[in-house]
Amino acid sequence: MYVSWLSSQLLLAAGLASAKWIVPGARWSDTDGNLVNAHAGCVTVDEDSGKFFLFGEYKVQGQVEGGGVAVYSSDDLATWESHGLALKPEEGHPYLDPKMIIQRPKVIYSDATEKYQMFWHADNSTYGLLLQGFAQADNITGPYSFVDATSPLGNWSQDFGLFTDYKDGRSYALYSNGDRKEARDVYLTSYNDNKTALDSVVHRFDKFDLEAPTIIQTEKSYFALMSHKTGYRPNNVVAFRADKLSGPWSQPFIVAPLNTRTFNSQSGFSLRIKGRKQTTYLYLGDQWDSNSLWESRYIWLPVSINEQKKSLQLEWYDIYDLNVKTGEYREVKGTIYQAPSAKTAGSAFKQEATFSDTGSLLTGIYGNDSTVTFSNVQGNGAKDGQWVSFYYQNTDDMGFGDQPGGTPDRIGGAWQLRRIASVVLNGDTQNVESLYQRDTHKGIILSTPLKLKLKKGTNEIKIGGLSNGFDVKGADIEKIVVYPPEG
Ligand SMILES: *[C@@H]1O[C@H](CO)[C@@H](O)[C@H](O)[C@H]1NC(C)=O
Ligand SMILES: *[C@@H]1O[C@H](CO)[C@@H](O)[C@H](O)[C@H]1NC(C)=O
Ligand SMILES: *[C@@H]1O[C@H](CO)[C@@H](O)[C@H](O)[C@H]1NC(C)=O
Ligand SMILES: *[C@@H]1O[C@H](CO)[C@@H](O)[C@H](O)[C@H]1NC(C)=O
Ligand SMILES: *[C@@H]1O[C@H](CO)[C@@H](O)[C@H](O)[C@H]1NC(C)=O
Repeated sequence: MYVSWLSSQLLLAAGLASAKWIVPGARWSDTDGNLVNAHAGCVTVDEDSGKFFLFGEYKVQGQVEGGGVAVYSSDDLATWESHGLALKPEEGHPYLDPKMIIQRPKVIYSDATEKYQMFWHADNSTYGLLLQGFAQADNITGPYSFVDATSPLGNWSQDFGLFTDYKDGRSYALYSNGDRKEARDVYLTSYNDNKTALDSVVHRFDKFDLEAPTIIQTEKSYFALMSHKTGYRPNNVVAFRADKLSGPWSQPFIVAPLNTRTFNSQSGFSLRIKGRKQTTYLYLGDQWDSNSLWESRYIWLPVSINEQKKSLQLEWYDIYDLNVKTGEYREVKGTIYQAPSAKTAGSAFKQEATFSDTGSLLTGIYGNDSTVTFSNVQGNGAKDGQWVSFYYQNTDDMGFGDQPGGTPDRIGGAWQLRRIASVVLNGDTQNVESLYQRDTHKGIILSTPLKLKLKKGTNEIKIGGLSNGFDVKGADIEKIVVYPPEG
């Protein structure tokens, strides 16, 4: 018994020590080695322990809705321990049946009721109800018991967000009221003192037809972030700014570089981390994968705010190291291998590209024969591997009919979510890695990470094509960046 207790503590310590980097868009594993499975949710900070609790929609392979709400805890926002389902689906229940919709759950603590309270978008499968669900629990991890599902002040409620003002502790619901012509607004409505019901509309973002709302509060400003409505496709998230929640609110402005579609993500939640040394704001976005929703990933990024210019921008890092106690974060730096240093095979070739770092990128990557190889990649031989970011361009954002690629913004275009490249390390074709390369746009380069077990010394990384939904095309490659091992 003693030995197993000790080894479990050692494993725990090793887990905590080795995973404090945040890697947006990677496959995040929990401390049991399973995918972190909590989509479109929230992070609630437990005031007593200072722990972070992540809640979100739980999805398994082949399933879209009906999985309930999962909960995880973390001390560092990077290492996540699963606590199972906080809100379980319940066969035959009018709102918790697996056929019903439980989306965008948010959790707050109420001093008045002395309970943790979960709210969400409660609906049926055709979005005909447009209600807000409410459940309570004594313990933050649940189990949560259903209280009711209601219309907020008689209106409709679709994408649901929740915001608590740190200055006075008051909480607010944020909700788009759906797609009907009479709707297409986003509401900001305050909860009563005990946070059990809504009491009055504070502001209505009228007819902007936006969704997935969240609010970031600084010392001086409120920034309300929302996405456009393109289903599971990402788009340009916008923010409105105001001095007071009741407004006046500014014109919306775009928060990430144009055409990156918010680094391929949708808004939904944000976090203010008041550390000992600085306050850091995080955007917690979802990178939906409509081909396999259960594999959807998380794009969590620091936000830079300029109060003078009244502006806000997401900052992209392949990897950053956040200290939640001090509030400080730093970009993790890697070694860059640019396209010109790679060898091409088959019909893959280097092509002039004014928008790339070196003025050229690697294209024509196709199947196992038309490949590109970086053969001088230095590794550390770390047991847990090293992150490698692949910078790529994928112009499959819209093709015509059954013709992929080449025609962004084409009317009647058929949208492709991603290409998948194969990554072969040191000729090991038994362990081919799949690299998901979400569509970008012409001239837009994004990056996507894989953890690879590089050996100490020189390694060879060969990139081929697996699939873009039509054939075995891989995306164009600008460069790869190899990061040091964690810890
Ligand atoms: C959802 O609710 C609406 C409104 O009650 C109803 O018209 C619609 O038929 C329901 N959809 C399903 C699948 O039950
Ligand atoms: C509350 O949740 C914590 C964390 O999961 C757990 O350790 C504890 O046993 C729970 N308490 C109760 C009363 O369920
Ligand atoms: C909801 O609010 C919109 C305006 O935002 C209004 O036109 C509509 O009638 C309201 N719907 C209900 C059911 O109250
Ligand atoms: C919460 O507040 C409302 C009115 O603000 C009151 O009607 C209700 O009884 C309160 N509930 C609890 C549990 O305190
Ligand atoms: C590429 O090689 C893998 C085995 O390494 C094989 O499964 C796959 O079918 C091949 N793809 C093509 C397009 O030849």
